[in-house]
Amino acid sequence: MGVGIIGVGAYVPENIVTNKDLEDMVDTNDEWIRTRTGIEERRIASEDMDTSHMAIIAAKNALADAKLEAEDIELILVATATPDNVFPTVACMVQEALSLTNIPAMDISAACAGFVYGLVTAYQYIETNTYKNILVIGSEKFSKIIDWSDKNTCVLFGDGAGAVVISNVTGDKGILSFELGADGSGGKHLLVDNETDFITMNGKEVFKFAVRQLPQSCINVIEKAGLTKEDINFLIPHQANIRIIDAARERLGLKQDKVSTTVRKHGNTSAASIPLALYEELENGKIFDGDIIVIVGFGGGLTWGSLVIKWGK
Ligand code: ACO
Repeated sequence: MGVGIIGVGAYVPENIVTNKDLEDMVDTNDEWIRTRTGIEERRIASEDMDTSHMAIIAAKNALADAKLEAEDIELILVATATPDNVFPTVACMVQEALSLTNIPAMDISAACAGFVYGLVTAYQYIETNTYKNILVIGSEKFSKIIDWSDKNTCVLFGDGAGAVVISNVTGDKGILSFELGADGSGGKHLLVDNETDFITMNGKEVFKFAVRQLPQSCINVIEKAGLTKEDINFLIPHQANIRIIDAARERLGLKQDKVSTTVRKHGNTSAASIPLALYEELENGKIFDGDIIVIVGFGGGLTWGSLVIKWGK
């Protein structure tokens, strides 16, 4: 038996903020945002919709997709950089909302790579027969840590949540290899300033790191899985910037329709971007049973992580 994904769910707020809308707020324009980032619009949550609320809806959708009841879940992991509170964790809030008691629940903090860190953590518990079914959620309300007067950052991010159920899967399906990494010396390039509580970023340094690390990490996990670039059926990279995604796609020799680019509609939703993209691509009919899927995240820390999954239950 392998360890794989048996259910996927997502949630995005209804409120769409377009590039044109941002032109009224800061000195920017649609053309600049599209050409530099690929982003056309993003969803922004209302005042009363926090990270936990989005996580709970995505989790319920993933459970329904997996055809499981909440009681079947034995561990809840939530990847987030924007929890409602320092504690209780978002994971504990999800546990309460699902009317579960006693099962462990914890948040994972690895910025935009957090969801991959969560998947790999869940994988260990299933692989060692500790738990049978684990909820892994990525949920972010980045709109609350954005300085809406800073054009360098406010155009880049959005809110949303995605969730998966990790369990045993049949035959040779499931996670074939993974890699996690971090480089604390690059932490200064992307951080939430303690004084202001707003995100600050050295865009050029983050860009250079991502263009180098993202494709390299994909190549590492493909080799670890005993596969080659030609075996990849679909790539789901963290959705930060279309130019970073394109650089990875070119290095891996993939055609455009083999790579998820949901950044156009969602912006960068940090730890939620990968499960949200996975959900959308399944809805779009882009992922088939038996496909080799590469998932790769990178983010503040600096952190990165990638996985190869043979898709299917
Ligand atoms: N609208 C219009 N002009 C802008 C905007 C904007 N929104 N933002 C910056 N500019 C201006 C700058 O002021 C600068 O003007 P100047 O030349 O007169 O000084 C000019 O545009 C060029 O700015 P650059 O910083 O050189 O633009 P660059 O091509 O590097 O693109 C970007 C900036 C899009 C931020 C890019 O560096 C990038 O995508 N970096 C990676 C960011 C990223 O992925 N972050 C998320 C990481 S994940 C996580 O953990 C949160």
